[in-house]
Amino acid sequence: MSTTRRTPTIQDVARFAQVSTATVSRALSSPERVSQDTRLRISEAVLATGYTLNQAARSLRQRTSKTILVALPDIRNIFFSAILDAIEREATRRGYSTLVCNRCSGPNPARQLGEYFRSHRADGLLLLDGALNLSHLLELAGEPTDVPLVVACEDIPDAPFHTVKTDNARAAASATQHLINLGHTRIGHIAGPLGNVLRDERLEGFRQAIHDAGLYVRPDWIFPGNFQMESGFAAGLDYLAGTDRPTAMFAANDEMAIGFLSALREKGLECPRDISVVGFDDLAVAVHYSPPLTTIRQPREKLGQMAAQMLIGLLEGRAVEPRRVVLRSELILRSSTARFHSPPG
Ligand code: RIB
Repeated sequence: MSTTRRTPTIQDVARFAQVSTATVSRALSSPERVSQDTRLRISEAVLATGYTLNQAARSLRQRTSKTILVALPDIRNIFFSAILDAIEREATRRGYSTLVCNRCSGPNPARQLGEYFRSHRADGLLLLDGALNLSHLLELAGEPTDVPLVVACEDIPDAPFHTVKTDNARAAASATQHLINLGHTRIGHIAGPLGNVLRDERLEGFRQAIHDAGLYVRPDWIFPGNFQMESGFAAGLDYLAGTDRPTAMFAANDEMAIGFLSALREKGLECPRDISVVGFDDLAVAVHYSPPLTTIRQPREKLGQMAAQMLIGLLEGRAVEPRRVVLRSELILRSSTARFHSPPG
């Protein structure tokens, strides 16, 4: 006697869920087009019958993968985890999957990324990496690939693409202004990586606030960094080697602020007694650090969610307006900053 089981079909799912095969097909390809109740019944039926959708076959048939490609500059940067999480949740809610491409800014990223689209593995690109060359991106978005594209987080100046970002320069100015309000006049900055648009915007905001307060930006108090903790630590060592030092530091991200503080602690300096420090991002660790870090909170979940909504809108042929969204960040006051007291004596 044969024990071979018949492969479940879409008809089996429809029969189990008591809906038509067209409804099952719609629920599987565009879940947002069926009611939640029907979606649930069909999910149960899929599980009960053991039906598996052949994604590759479906892609070939429909020339669509219902997948968005997310291009990241550096997956090791935990800043991106909350953004990716929000993108993934929003995509799933709307019936899409996500694929991640890390460090795609090689010699010809348009070709590298374009391969995902030529092979129908993704339908649209959500670009979080501002280092890509504009002409390469225009090539990707133009014929024959015609890739729908949304830029998020790291802006690409002068690019005609839909964009969601945060107000980096204004937020950096507010972080610096907070230090000025506490009576600090000797303020340094740990900058982001050269060539990164966010480095420029945050440095610009810092400079603006210093100038507006009638203070002077000391070039030797702008410490180089690359958004990684080690570069903050190196900035700390440079700081300690100096004789004429700032009393407050604005770091262009939390990781560098934490690295900086760890270098100072090794030499017995205390924050905020000896120096006030502000970060940028409000990573989960910022509130639990010792001392808890004053920082700029970027609305990362909102940024990821809006970027995914925009891209899916484009993929589904809707008019997506406005083309450019700038979300507001917030200064979060904690214990790493304190009023300036001149040293005794
Ligand atoms: O480049 C993306 C993010 O990485 C920036 O917002 C910055 O804060 C860094 O952590």
